[in-house]
Amino acid sequence: MRRPFVAGNWKMNLDRASAVALAEGVAKGADSLVGVDLAVCPPSCYLEAVGRAIAGSKIALGAQNMYHQPDGAFTGELSAAMLRDLGCTYVILGHSERRHILGETDEEVNKKVHAALAAGLTPIICVGELLAQRKAGQTMTVIRRQINGSLAGLSPRQMTGIVIAYEPVWAIGTGEVATPQQAEEVHSALRKIVEDRYNDSIAGSVRIQYGGSVKPENAAELLGRPDIDGALVGGASLKVEQFLGIAEKAG
Ligand code: 13P
Repeated sequence: MRRPFVAGNWKMNLDRASAVALAEGVAKGADSLVGVDLAVCPPSCYLEAVGRAIAGSKIALGAQNMYHQPDGAFTGELSAAMLRDLGCTYVILGHSERRHILGETDEEVNKKVHAALAAGLTPIICVGELLAQRKAGQTMTVIRRQINGSLAGLSPRQMTGIVIAYEPVWAIGTGEVATPQQAEEVHSALRKIVEDRYNDSIAGSVRIQYGGSVKPENAAELLGRPDIDGALVGGASLKVEQFLGIAEKAG
């Protein structure tokens, strides 16, 4: 069975002191949680401090982005090996904010996925449609293009080291959560795409998180759906009680 996985994407928020306090609070509260994998993804400049704060706890460390090259003249970028060095287990790749604000393409995401896996990181690959695309009935065309582009060239063995996150762009930071039915529909279609690309055993084991205005109040209904294996949480992950409240619903 798939073990639920809840990760907090802190985005470009907090300062050092509040990031450490949040990490300590979450690590302490997670002690009593069972049956769920947990991670926090702070801004890269706080990875080391947060890593220290969660050391020895049930919380894993993740980054929000990386560059695909192993090293060299790439001013401002971080490599997968550097993230490993900082104690990261996970890296979020292809988040919609990177796709739509910073112009990241499926091809770039795919290069990053290969580099992350080669370095021993678990990529959390994000896909999701814009509101206009949903309204135009293009949701699955967009999702299919993003996931196939992001997974290009991955062997079955590599595919077992991947997490997928479905984050409808219109539900991110808007308070407008996808209904459990809307989310489940895309999650089960994503699993089918993985099955068609690989096989039913890999499709049955790949974890697919939902992201977009997840809160303790709506988490149980979303996470109760058969193909929703956890959550990638933005705003609510910045509050200890809210993040733990969501994690509790997943376990
Ligand atoms: P919110 O939970 O703030 O909607 O953000 C979701 C998200 O983008 C997580 O990666």
